Amino acid sequence: MSSTPAFDMVFFGGTGDLALRKLLPALYQAHKAGTLHPDGLIHALGRKALGLEGYLAILDEQVRPRLGADFNEQAWQSFLRRIRFQRLESGTAADYEQLAQTLGHDESRNTVCYLATAPQLFTQICGHLAAVGLNHAGVRIVLEKPLGHDLESYEAINAAVGRCFRENQIYRIDHYLGKEAVQNLMAIRFGNALFEPLWRREWIENVQITIAEELGVEERGEFYDRTGALRDMLQNHLLQLLCIVAMEPPASLDEDAVRGEKLKVLKSLKPFTAEDVISKIVRGQYGRGAINGLPVPGYREEHKVAPDSNTETFVALQAEIANWRWAGVPFFLRTGKRMQERVAEIVINFRNVPHAVFPKPLGLHSGNRLVIRLQPKESIRLYFLAKEPGDAMNLQSAYLNLDFHTMFKARWADAYERLLLDVIRGRLALFMRRDELAQAWAWVDPIIDSWEQNRIAPRPYAAGTWGPAASSGLLSRAGAIWHEET
Ligand code: BG6
Repeated sequence: MSSTPAFDMVFFGGTGDLALRKLLPALYQAHKAGTLHPDGLIHALGRKALGLEGYLAILDEQVRPRLGADFNEQAWQSFLRRIRFQRLESGTAADYEQLAQTLGHDESRNTVCYLATAPQLFTQICGHLAAVGLNHAGVRIVLEKPLGHDLESYEAINAAVGRCFRENQIYRIDHYLGKEAVQNLMAIRFGNALFEPLWRREWIENVQITIAEELGVEERGEFYDRTGALRDMLQNHLLQLLCIVAMEPPASLDEDAVRGEKLKVLKSLKPFTAEDVISKIVRGQYGRGAINGLPVPGYREEHKVAPDSNTETFVALQAEIANWRWAGVPFFLRTGKRMQERVAEIVINFRNVPHAVFPKPLGLHSGNRLVIRLQPKESIRLYFLAKEPGDAMNLQSAYLNLDFHTMFKARWADAYERLLLDVIRGRLALFMRRDELAQAWAWVDPIIDSWEQNRIAPRPYAAGTWGPAASSGLLSRAGAIWHEET
């Protein structure tokens, strides 16, 4: 990968979890790979008066051990020379003046302000940045999710940020779009003619998109209990994946061409009626159980979670895209914490053959299935039926497997690394445009309202399982089963 232009990367929330867990390790990897311009500085901002030495000590203690086998003493030491630290109180004007003095106002230099803070601070931070002229054309602003709690609060954030920055300076991040397998899905769909004729309602029976985690809410109980799986995962990550599966081929990879196509998908999502919310959505919450043989507490026993909480940690739903390509094809989306396995995958189930000539009944599913695995190990598998060796004409499921790590030996960039480099290079295509996310909220809001108005409590499921039994019921009513149940 070629080197980036010179840059200043400013992390608001520089001592926070995201910066230490994801952002700094990602930049270290890019530095080690030689992708960062030698004149690239990282300015961490935090509320504590740590001084540079104090901050570097935190990096040594908390970032370094996370690098595992990728740690290299020489690369680490030279990486640390890029780091600066400034104390900044988000409401103190003088702190921004000092920042502006450090950064200067050179419009030809790429200055990235990454707001890895609580979203309640976005408005205040942007206002102060603008007041000291740090909204000039060379500045880009990165907004971490969650962007709002519903459409109204999302638009309030946009309006405030939009008063200080133009839309093409705003990078709304969804780290799922930076994942290698997601990019590959675009490559497979739009770089090959093979799948396109089949990629439609005539040939596809249903689509399943799953993001399952083994982790519980960890230290984020307070945030999570206010948020829940629908807002935390489905409104953004899952809907973005759905867009990439379902969008029409864009005219080019130009940022507005891609994002325009995604927006059309979101606009075609059929809204849920109050009855649909009951029959087509399963809301769940984990109870006690075991992960990898070890007992784990239930959600209501987690740190900073209300003991009578009705927040969902699981959601499965059946969506429909009302357009010519997809009308009538169920899109089953599912995400949950404390599930049996950590897996993120997209499953495209093709239709059955029109007439069975083989003795073995094919049952509900043809066996033609494309499975795009995003994690833990990126791969693409194409399943089909083949004859089992022997006298009898018995068919069995078999697959062609494309394991990306075996096929491509190049170094893999983590999602955050790719996206941070894209911001430095000014590439917006993998970031969400204002109207896209607004549309996603507009689709999700009525679900939340309906849950609240009709007091729909989450169904319990044991930690370490695939969620409430109703999740399988949702598919069986549509004549389908989840991929792992086949
Ligand atoms: C984040 C959510 O956006 O994505 C977390 O807030 C979730 O709750 C995480 O754990 C999952 O990301 P990944 O890349 O580990 O699948």
